[in-house]
Amino acid sequence: MDRILIFTGKGGVGKTSIAAAHARKSAGEGKKTLLFSADMAHNLSDLFEVKIGRNETRIAPELYALEADPEYMMEHEYRGMVRAIENLFRSTGVEMDGAGDIFSIAGLPGMGELFSLLKILDLYEDGGYDRLIIDCAPTGETLALLKFPELLCWYMEKFFPIGKIAMRVLSPVSKVMLKIELPDGKAMTDVERLYVRLSKLQELLKNDAVTTVRIVALPEKMVVEETRRNYMYLNLYGYYVDGVYINRVLPDAVENPFFAGWKALQRKYLAELRAVFQEVPSIQIPWYEKELCTMQSLDRICRDALEGRPVFEVQKHRGGEVYEKTEEGYRLNLFLPCACIEKLDLYQSEGNVILKAGNFKRNIALPDTMRHCSISGAKQKGDALEIYFSRGGTQ
Ligand SMILES: Nc1ncnc2c1ncn2[C@@H]1O[C@H](COP(=O)(O)OP(=O)(O)O)[C@@H](O)[C@H]1O
Ligand SMILES: [Mg+2]
Repeated sequence: MDRILIFTGKGGVGKTSIAAAHARKSAGEGKKTLLFSADMAHNLSDLFEVKIGRNETRIAPELYALEADPEYMMEHEYRGMVRAIENLFRSTGVEMDGAGDIFSIAGLPGMGELFSLLKILDLYEDGGYDRLIIDCAPTGETLALLKFPELLCWYMEKFFPIGKIAMRVLSPVSKVMLKIELPDGKAMTDVERLYVRLSKLQELLKNDAVTTVRIVALPEKMVVEETRRNYMYLNLYGYYVDGVYINRVLPDAVENPFFAGWKALQRKYLAELRAVFQEVPSIQIPWYEKELCTMQSLDRICRDALEGRPVFEVQKHRGGEVYEKTEEGYRLNLFLPCACIEKLDLYQSEGNVILKAGNFKRNIALPDTMRHCSISGAKQKGDALEIYFSRGGTQ
């Protein structure tokens, strides 16, 4: 597989339609393509009018579709690992809010989505497709997924009386150094296997030579606000956004006076979106006179908005996390558009820089050479956040 495209955005903005149009175009180019729905509210079956479900289903030449079934995955494909984690939780004797013996991983928020994403790793490793187009859950849920491994650590911290020690046991590096009695050697191995799968997944999703994120938006106030936040968080977590699709743009040909006010509003929000996504290639999709629920309607999107554009190529490369040497120590440049420095929490802990914005938190591991440096300041510069470190200095 040479390409994974993830479509995300607020609920109802057109993620499924636009992702499906890309899958259609990709298959038309002779690339074996899988359209994968990682959204719990699946609707690929409705779109293609065939039952899809958890089995890869052929829709057209080179075009396949699949709807994630995380419950099935937890019950079958990852059963051993899931049971091991549940046993580990149980063995700690922690009360699970009345769940008692029937505590299950499946009941924890975010787990369904997490396992849906694990399927992406399986599919990637199987190598059965040239391209994977992912119709992702609405923004909030997607971000919850991207927070792994923080998410898993959060659960560990919350449910284990040994808290941080358990987290360290999970880290393959320090495992050998800690002599902690584990409930069951085999179980721990399974937990570690799951941890490794999740870490590999994250590596794949952040490998911007393969995986990039495409944001779908509408020129409307609420969507613009959420899209701006979404973009900032995706960058905060180090995911690469290389395209924005502005859907339901009223065509100039619409002259009905009823839409005059709407057109003015759309112009305003289009300008705002352009300002947010200055460097990111953007594509506008017209508002059609009817819903998009046939193959013909997908072809229409392809013709009107995608034709002649290199939509499957990685569109540009950001600088990523760049470290530079300065006189006092080092400077870390992070690409972090739309971030308001007053709202960011920034501190250092055990070789990590911790960046918090609202409920989101990111750990950036510092290179060894910076072990003895501490944060001496931070500055916002355009789309970047500059964090300064000085040798042996204090904050
Ligand atoms: N450009 C458009 N013109 C007309 N209808 C659209 C357009 N984009 C999406 N729709 C319709 O809006 C609804 C929501 O789109 P969908 O792709 O399912 O959004 P999401 O997956 O983000 O929830 C669907 O009924 C779809 O047919
Ligand atoms: Mg959808």
